[in-house]
Amino acid sequence: MKKDIILLGIESSCDETSAAVVVNGRKVLSNIIATQVKLHAEYGGVVPEIASRKHVELIIPVIDKAIKDAGITLNDVDAISVTYGPGLVGTLLVGISAAKAIAFSLDKPLIGVNHIEGHIAANYIANPELEPPFICLVASGGHSHVVHVKGYRDFVVLGRTRDDAAGEAFDKIARVLGLGYPGGPAIEKGAVSGNPEAFNFPRVKFSDVPYDFSFSGLKTAVINTVNQFEQKGMPVPVADICASFQNAVVDVLVGNTLSAALDCNSPVICIAGGVAANSSLRERMTTACLENGISLHYPPVLLCTDNAAMIASAAYFYYIDKKWSANDLNAVPGLKLEECGINKE
Ligand code: KG4
Ligand code: ZN
Repeated sequence: MKKDIILLGIESSCDETSAAVVVNGRKVLSNIIATQVKLHAEYGGVVPEIASRKHVELIIPVIDKAIKDAGITLNDVDAISVTYGPGLVGTLLVGISAAKAIAFSLDKPLIGVNHIEGHIAANYIANPELEPPFICLVASGGHSHVVHVKGYRDFVVLGRTRDDAAGEAFDKIARVLGLGYPGGPAIEKGAVSGNPEAFNFPRVKFSDVPYDFSFSGLKTAVINTVNQFEQKGMPVPVADICASFQNAVVDVLVGNTLSAALDCNSPVICIAGGVAANSSLRERMTTACLENGISLHYPPVLLCTDNAAMIASAAYFYYIDKKWSANDLNAVPGLKLEECGINKE
């Protein structure tokens, strides 16, 4: 019988300190996530210096708990995997330093993982039968990508945002409406009692790269609408604005992903990243896939937002191909998906 491969995953690219133990890239033994959301909420967004300091405090207890909850010891781990980009340089370095120290002291392989690859891999945990190829929408606070996942380590980015990421747009609009941080869940909640057709906010389409996104025009249109109500001394219709804004974002996320799947003859779509937690996106993508004979996969909410289990899952496919990282692994804040996997070899 083939030996199980046990990987420790570490994630510290933004405001979640997380460590996880995952077997064969699919089975999660533990996934500890210490969120700093409350700490950053009063500033309306992540403050990098505060985040780095908090990661320093949390990283060892979080790793200890992940190992303990998995019912193993560090010696049972086959390799240490860690996010090395994209993300905030100071926060990434905390996770990388911890991963290196453990790998070096135990003489185990170190595997650096691209955070976006991790988001995609969350789908392998949620759906143990899932295999590439498929089209994956990755929509988070920092990224909006339509990716052709041709193999476990083979990615072609078909479309990306030209300005704000989808999650970033949610966060900015929530701030303007005074709904707090993070914006995605707040807007989703606010939208429940609103009319998604109340305002016809713009949906940007590009003719040269049809899968690219742009959310800055939408953001400006929403802010102008809020200003107009305030200038007239009228109450801002928060629920209608939330619902109409969410409708516009979901329209383009679903539209571009579906076009990519149809153009690439892909019978499978996956969604990933924090915005994939949005129930309107899940519902609309489900309907679009049903209408087009495409099967849809998405992770549970806990695996959509940042976590280390997804990092250990992505790392497994590097481990089995013996693609370790060197001991001088460094943080790469602007790391691109094209710089990873088989593209790098
Ligand atoms: O993947 P993630 O945890 O971190 C990054 O890699 O950026 O994504 C966080 C983003 C935030 O912008 C947050 O507002 C958004 O995901 N988000 C949502 C929802 N939950 C989180 N956006 C829309 N609807 C949600 N339910
Ligand atoms: Zn993320």
